[in-house]
Amino acid sequence: MRKPLIAGNWKMYKTKDDALAFIYAVNLEVPDKDLVESVICAPSIFLRDLVKREGENIRIGAQNMHYANEGAYTGETSAAMLKSYGVDYCIIGHSERRAYFNETDETVNLKLIAAVNADIIPIVCVGESLEIREAGTTDHVVKKQIEKAYLNVDAEEALKTVIAYEPIWAIGTGRTATPEQANETIIAIRNVLATLYTKEVADKIRILYGGSVNVKNVDSLLSMSDIDGALVGGASLDPKSYLTLVKAALKK
Ligand code: PGA
Repeated sequence: MRKPLIAGNWKMYKTKDDALAFIYAVNLEVPDKDLVESVICAPSIFLRDLVKREGENIRIGAQNMHYANEGAYTGETSAAMLKSYGVDYCIIGHSERRAYFNETDETVNLKLIAAVNADIIPIVCVGESLEIREAGTTDHVVKKQIEKAYLNVDAEEALKTVIAYEPIWAIGTGRTATPEQANETIIAIRNVLATLYTKEVADKIRILYGGSVNVKNVDSLLSMSDIDGALVGGASLDPKSYLTLVKAALKK
């Protein structure tokens, strides 16, 4: 009942020619959008060119946005600007933005609300550090992140969001959470959503796993009950690898 979603996160990789070659290479081969949602979250400078060339079954997302509609925020992009260029998704609160660009639970909350208001689907990232995982407090920390991200967000708005559970220790490290670990935390997140809203609402919100997902581990991760897709960095850069990942989601 939850349509699988595979989102590539290109981070700060590729140049214009690589970006265009990628979209041409995957356009015709990505599965039907009614079966799998295939999304590429690209650096903002590529968004316009990618949206212009996106095929029927692929959608483009940004990697960050500002929470204000407009204003004196040099270097920033608003949700309305993204929407006006045909961008459909935006990653919010990625751990790299939390670590290097002062993203906080409060700005994540404001951005989530701004995205939904502008009809952009936010992919809201949460996840714990290795220290927290080892201390055994993952569920508590992730619960707080979700509660703060969804502050003043009603059920109808929450249904327009996607969550990505990304343990920080698994991002770009080659060290993936086991499918069972990832599923357990995702179930804990769903339980938080059920408390904030209702079980029915929680059962409809898609929760992705992210952190060193690749063509080898994608099947076992997606076979888990509550993992609805993946947010993929490194393995989304190569068209062949990205296509293997989106096709793996067809088995879900
Ligand atoms: P990775 O990145 O797949 O390269 O670990 C995931 C992410 O940061 O979203």
